[in-house]
Amino acid sequence: MSIEKINPVVLQVSNLKKRFGNNIVLDDFSFELHRNENIVVLGKSGSGKSVLIKCIIGLMKPDEGSIHILGKEISQMNAEELDKTRAKIGFLFQSNALYDSMTVRENLEFPLRRHWIKHNKSEMDQLIKQALADVKLTHTIDMMPSELSGGMRKRIALARTLILKPEIILYDEPTTGLDPITAKEIIQLINEIKIKYKTASLIISHDMNCVKLASDFVVMLIDGKCYAYDTYTNLKTNKDKNILQFFE
Ligand SMILES: Nc1ncnc2c1ncn2[C@@H]1O[C@H](COP(=O)(O)OP(=O)(O)OP(=O)(O)O)[C@@H](O)[C@H]1O
Ligand SMILES: [Mg+2]
Repeated sequence: MSIEKINPVVLQVSNLKKRFGNNIVLDDFSFELHRNENIVVLGKSGSGKSVLIKCIIGLMKPDEGSIHILGKEISQMNAEELDKTRAKIGFLFQSNALYDSMTVRENLEFPLRRHWIKHNKSEMDQLIKQALADVKLTHTIDMMPSELSGGMRKRIALARTLILKPEIILYDEPTTGLDPITAKEIIQLINEIKIKYKTASLIISHDMNCVKLASDFVVMLIDGKCYAYDTYTNLKTNKDKNILQFFE
């Protein structure tokens, strides 16, 4: 069954294959992500979720298939185009990857400098304040990451992603290791950002509460394939045992 969507496709993964020796990790894996949409990729440990993300950001080369980002196939891009495309993709690492020796402000300035985006001091300040306001942590601007809680660090990492105004955000296990209340706050933030900036997000998660609350659609990655693509509610009532196992 095809689902009608009005927003444009921003990420198209088609017939992706990736193997390591005899280990076929992705096998004809396809899906599309639209603007203003959150898709959660659900798959067991070792099913190839991180491999998928690495292929999307160009850290790994698929054996077959194609990946179009904002209409362009990534293997056709030269280094400069790839760099520009990467600037439009925010990536929230599971580890947050904040720089411990830098203040929150310096951490947020970093991507702007990294992508050679020129801003004068007041523009830079404005962007930093906006990103911090989006994650509700304006008061932490001069703090060090070590002074922040796990949930706060996750939010600062998200603010650092938002500063480049990404069109696509990739979240790797955004709620893992957080207590249920903090996890819920992060999920709320993920949803608020989607509504405010109409971003498209690909979220990798094992956390069924995150899947339930953050997904518009769920992609089930089983045996290297897109085994199921549907809403959380529809999948939850599906009788297929491979699907049901995620809800037990
Ligand atoms: N660089 C590599 N070389 C060889 N095999 C690899 C490499 N990277 C991943 N694999 C294999 O690919 C498979 C999928 O790994 P991947 O890290 O994508 O799993 P995952 O779904 O992200 O699991 P988890 O939920 O535990 O993070 C595993 O069998 C892994 O051993
Ligand atoms: Mg992984």
